[in-house]
Amino acid sequence: MTKNPIYCAIDTSSIDDAEKIINQIAPHIGGIKLGLEFFTSCGIKGIEQIERYDLPLFLDFKLYDIPNTVKKSLQNILSYNPTYTTLHVSGGSNMLKECVDLKKELNSNTNLIGVTMLTSFDDDSINEIGISGTVNENVKNLSALALDCGMDGIVCSPMEIRNVRETFGSKLKVIVPGIRNQTKNNDDQKRTLSAKKAIEFGADIIVVGRPITSAEEPGKAAEIFHQSIK
Ligand code: C5P
Repeated sequence: MTKNPIYCAIDTSSIDDAEKIINQIAPHIGGIKLGLEFFTSCGIKGIEQIERYDLPLFLDFKLYDIPNTVKKSLQNILSYNPTYTTLHVSGGSNMLKECVDLKKELNSNTNLIGVTMLTSFDDDSINEIGISGTVNENVKNLSALALDCGMDGIVCSPMEIRNVRETFGSKLKVIVPGIRNQTKNNDDQKRTLSAKKAIEFGADIIVVGRPITSAEEPGKAAEIFHQSIK
């Protein structure tokens, strides 16, 4: 494996904390994922600060709104040239297609990634919000829609990687959070697996947050994750 597929989710509300962690883990990760917690506290300035580390950036805002609002927001996000950014596939085909068209118009290299089912959901909790069928079935349907609309890839849990790969081959990049090497603490994640298994099953990128950022020694934890997939 040449490129390090580990993107660390820097979910913190403080730029100082973020930088402290990044300084320790930078040699052991392939990229940095910044999401809503970081953005709603550190803002654009925070993103610009983290850009200086020269690591590939994944801006994970999981956009979900009417097509016009999503398209305009995506235009702002693309100005930062992230390697990856996310939209909810359940925003529908109009929303997704407008975003794919915008990407083409701007000649952007950013990978547009569709979130299928959050890894904090399981079969019971999706039924609770009126979605029928299993998580696996829904991930497959939403992945098909993402591909149809010209998206570059999808996010799913480690449990669905094989299903997505069997159905779509390498037509979609597969990005996988919910990574836990030890099963004793899953936090709020319901569908988890180890980094090694996720890569074996065919994930292109694995997102690891708290198992690295909340570790006593984040640098050591990141190194162990990296070693575990070599
Ligand atoms: O700390 P942990 O490893 O659980 O972090 C997972 C990260 O992946 C979080 O930043 C979360 O927002 C993100 N994510 C997820 N499930 C998805 C999409 C993204 O957990 N379906």
